[in-house]
Amino acid sequence: MSEKIENLLGENRTFDPPSSIVENANATKEWFDLAEQDRLAYWQKQALERITWYKEPTEILDDSNSPFYQWFKDGELNLSYNCLDRHLETDGDRVAFYWEGEPGDTQEITYQDLYERVCKLSNGLKELGVKKGDRIAIYLGMTPEIVISMLACARIGAVHSVVFGGFSAEALADRINDAEAKVVITADGAWRRGDIVPLKKNVDDSLKLTDHIESVVVVKRTNNDVDMVEGLDYWYHDLVDKQDSTCEPEVMNAEDMLYILYTSGTTAKPKGIVHTQAGYLTGVTTTHSAVFDVKEDDIYWCAADCGWVTGHSYIVYGPLANKTTSVMYEGAPNAPDEKRLWSIVEKYKVNIFYTAPTAIRAFMKWGVEHPQAHDLSSLRLLGTVGEPINPEAWMWYHENIGSESCAIVDTWWQTETGSIMITPLPGITSTKPGSACGPMPGIDAIVVDEKGNEVSKGEGGYLAIKTPWPSMLRTVFGDEKRYIDTYWSKYDGMYFAGDGAKYDDDGYFWLLGRVDDVMNISGHRISTAEVESALVAHESVAEAAVIGRADEISGEAIAAFVTLIGGFEGNDELITTLRQHVSDKIGPIAKPKSIVITNDLPKTRSGKIMRRLLKDISEERKLGDVTTLANADIVSELQTRSSESADE
Ligand code: WTA
Repeated sequence: MSEKIENLLGENRTFDPPSSIVENANATKEWFDLAEQDRLAYWQKQALERITWYKEPTEILDDSNSPFYQWFKDGELNLSYNCLDRHLETDGDRVAFYWEGEPGDTQEITYQDLYERVCKLSNGLKELGVKKGDRIAIYLGMTPEIVISMLACARIGAVHSVVFGGFSAEALADRINDAEAKVVITADGAWRRGDIVPLKKNVDDSLKLTDHIESVVVVKRTNNDVDMVEGLDYWYHDLVDKQDSTCEPEVMNAEDMLYILYTSGTTAKPKGIVHTQAGYLTGVTTTHSAVFDVKEDDIYWCAADCGWVTGHSYIVYGPLANKTTSVMYEGAPNAPDEKRLWSIVEKYKVNIFYTAPTAIRAFMKWGVEHPQAHDLSSLRLLGTVGEPINPEAWMWYHENIGSESCAIVDTWWQTETGSIMITPLPGITSTKPGSACGPMPGIDAIVVDEKGNEVSKGEGGYLAIKTPWPSMLRTVFGDEKRYIDTYWSKYDGMYFAGDGAKYDDDGYFWLLGRVDDVMNISGHRISTAEVESALVAHESVAEAAVIGRADEISGEAIAAFVTLIGGFEGNDELITTLRQHVSDKIGPIAKPKSIVITNDLPKTRSGKIMRRLLKDISEERKLGDVTTLANADIVSELQTRSSESADE
């Protein structure tokens, strides 16, 4: 970590907030004052102002059973009502989504349309026997139905578990089993760079590995042939078209479960992060308004996928509850060519654009001629999320997308935090390229040392959150022990985020990446253990060690080192097979970029694989003392093989 800290210390450019934003910014300095004086009163004010309640809460925070905190626990509300119904009287005609399909088809969906489509699916799900508290898996591409499905669940009190459409059948089955989901909503396929991702076929395969699913609802999108089984599979349009276009929203308690979203941790088994209703909605609406400074007439585009938390919070719940007009795009950023995103910005006159550093690095590689071919002058604010942004990429974004006049917000948060935690506020903060600046009002983020003491300015350590916040995760689904062990055991009473961080001399936060065995590939978390266990599941592999090594585009790339079972020959063909095998097990996103086959792995005398050493070897760094290794001679073999191995 120290090397990264030193690199960043060289960054001393600052950018004042654009005066056009300062004058009329949604979030002001008073927010910080109020939160500082009385943190709970600040959150109560946000919750009461932003949410329409059936019953207003009288209690703000119940911390009597920490770390199982409860927020606004006697309040009653419905999130679908807050995202739809309450806007209809005055703004039913307002566009909720300008949706753009990858092949070029479009839909303009008003709040009234969205409301009716959500009600119809809600009634359809009820017809299938879905009740409050049931878990529903959603395995869809980025068509309007993914949003509609999430909101229909919220409307009837079902718990959604969205599984990213790039995950494999096996990964889907694991998540269905863990959540005990009884319905899965999917599509015949999803468009991706002109190809069809066979979603329904994957669901069929996953059903061989689970027996929880009672019904499969299938959206027709790509028109490829799919197998439909009578009494199990239902076409979405057959189920929905005949339904009534109103559906009474279920009255939910503030702490009823809203969704489960699986994310990688330090073991092979993904964690089902649980979010509940009112605290989550408070967090996402507050941050969506404050950080993106969204105004009534703005066109807002969060270019994420609903399969990740960014889509949950900043495509669905935050923007819709705030009555925002969004752009939603189905496909790949380079389909049909590298100008696609910029043509969409120009077409809809997008004002606010939110993406990941990995995407920005890809734009840099593709070349400035693509953004330059379009009029991007509508843009006012740019955001990033998912991984540290290197100052060079920040500057490129600033110059080539933001024409040096847009505010840029580098937002740090996690699936677990539910909403943005550390970020500049566009009308207040002077930004520094590469720094997420500081905590939101009401968020007690600090950098601490190994013992939990706050470090001084100019020093680095671990990121921790000192006090609970409304949109925090409530538990790991079905595993309270893991919730406590992962997040609340390292420090007494503080949330451990698993990220390294430092303060600079001005007290700005610099996020330095994960400190555990979790990789960040293109802004998405994948655990080393998950990929290792996929590898050893292959008949040829005896042992596997996986690390994330620095990569120009994706931030980190997966590098695997494997030893083989006697009798198997390590050749290029086997490497190709193993890469495909991991893709089948987890999904293409987890495919190792390089695999080195070796006779042994570097181990300590107690038998622990030295991953750090493998990282140094992969990144071709000078190695320190390796004499503590039980098998020191393996190092030179690995250095040779690693430099010979060709990236895919
Ligand atoms: C990383 C995504 C640096 C971090 C919303 C965190 C970041 C993990 C930033 C969460 C940022 C996210 N700067 N690192 N602005 N944003 N991260 O759960 O390591 O998919 O712990 O949530 O991404 O990833 P997750």
